[in-house]
Amino acid sequence: MPRDLFGEDHTFLPRPDLLSFEEIARVARIACTLGVQKIRLTGGEPLLRRQIELLVADLAQIPQLDLTLTTNGSLLAKKAQALKDAGLSRITVSLDALDDPTFKRMNDANFSVAQVLTGIETAQRVGFTGIKVNAVIQRGVNEHALLDLTRHFRGTGIIVRFIEFMDVGASNGWQLKDVVTASEMRQVLAREWPLQPLSAQYAGEVAGRYGHQDEAGEVGFIASVSAPFCKDCSRLRLSTDGQLFTCLFASEGFNLKTLLRTGYTDDAITDALRQLWRARRDRYSELRSAQTQGLHKIEMSYIGG
Ligand SMILES: C[S@@+](CC[C@H](N)C(=O)[O-])C[C@H]1O[C@@H](n2cnc3c(N)ncnc32)[C@H](O)[C@@H]1O
Repeated sequence: MPRDLFGEDHTFLPRPDLLSFEEIARVARIACTLGVQKIRLTGGEPLLRRQIELLVADLAQIPQLDLTLTTNGSLLAKKAQALKDAGLSRITVSLDALDDPTFKRMNDANFSVAQVLTGIETAQRVGFTGIKVNAVIQRGVNEHALLDLTRHFRGTGIIVRFIEFMDVGASNGWQLKDVVTASEMRQVLAREWPLQPLSAQYAGEVAGRYGHQDEAGEVGFIASVSAPFCKDCSRLRLSTDGQLFTCLFASEGFNLKTLLRTGYTDDAITDALRQLWRARRDRYSELRSAQTQGLHKIEMSYIGG
C-alpha cells in the first residue's frame, strides 16, 4: 500500500466488512470439494491479521491441503512458531533486495532487511522446509539483487524466485521498459553460476526452475510478462471482504460475501463457484498491450499477488 496513496489517515474497512475466519474456512472447504488442493494466504500482509494462526489451524484440518502463506516477513520471527504449531505447510517471504535503501525503495517498508532475515531464520529453526523467497526485479532499481540474493541463499535450502515486474493495479507506475525479463535475469546469474533447467514439479507451476550445477540448490524465474501462463492458470482469489477474482488483473470481482451472509446453503455456494469458474475467460497477460494498460485493475495490496 504505497504511503502516498494510503497515508496515516487512511480509513480502513470496518471490521464487520471483513470475512470472519469461519466464513473464509467455509469457502475454503467448499472450494476443496470442487478440486482445490492448495491455498495460499496472502494479503495485504497476512501476519497483520490478528491471530491468523487460528485460521491456519482451521484450514489445516482440510485433508490433503497444501496450505501456504506469503508474507513480507516483518512479523515472521514473532509468528513462525505459532504458524508451525497451527499446521501451516509452507512459507514464502518477499524480499526484493539485501540492502536497506533498495529494499525500502522497492516496498516503502518501515522495517529492515535484517528483520526479514531474522524471520526467515526463525522459520527455518522452527522446522519449515522449502522456504521460498520472492524478489520482484525492476529495471534500474534492484537488478543488483539478482546476484546478492542468489549468493546469500545458495546452499541454504531456501529457494529464491525472481519475478518479472507486473502491471497489477494502477499505482505502481508500471512501464514495459521497467521489466527485466526472466531470460535476462537468467543470463545475469549464469555468468556467475552455471545453471541447469529442472523439470516442473506439478502442472501449472508458475516458476521456471533452475538448479546450480554445483548442487547448491535452485532458483526460479517467474516470467509472467514475457511468457504469460494464463492457459495453465488455475487460481481463484478471495479478497478479505469476500470478493472472488478469477484473474490477478481483474477489474471487478464476484460478491460472494452476500451469498455467505444471506443464508445460502453450501450446495448453493458450490453451484455459484462452479458457475463462476466455468464462465471464466480471463487471460489478461496474454492480451497485454498499450490498450489494456488503461483498464481499471484491482490493486495488488487488495488482490494479494
Ligand atoms: C502482494 S504480496 C502480498 C503478501 C505479502 N504482503 C508480501 O509482501 O509478501 C504478494 C507477492 O506479490 C509480489 N508483487 C508485488 N507487486 C508486484 C508486481 N508489481 N509485480 C510482480 N510481483 C509483485 C510481492 O513481491 C509478493 O511476493
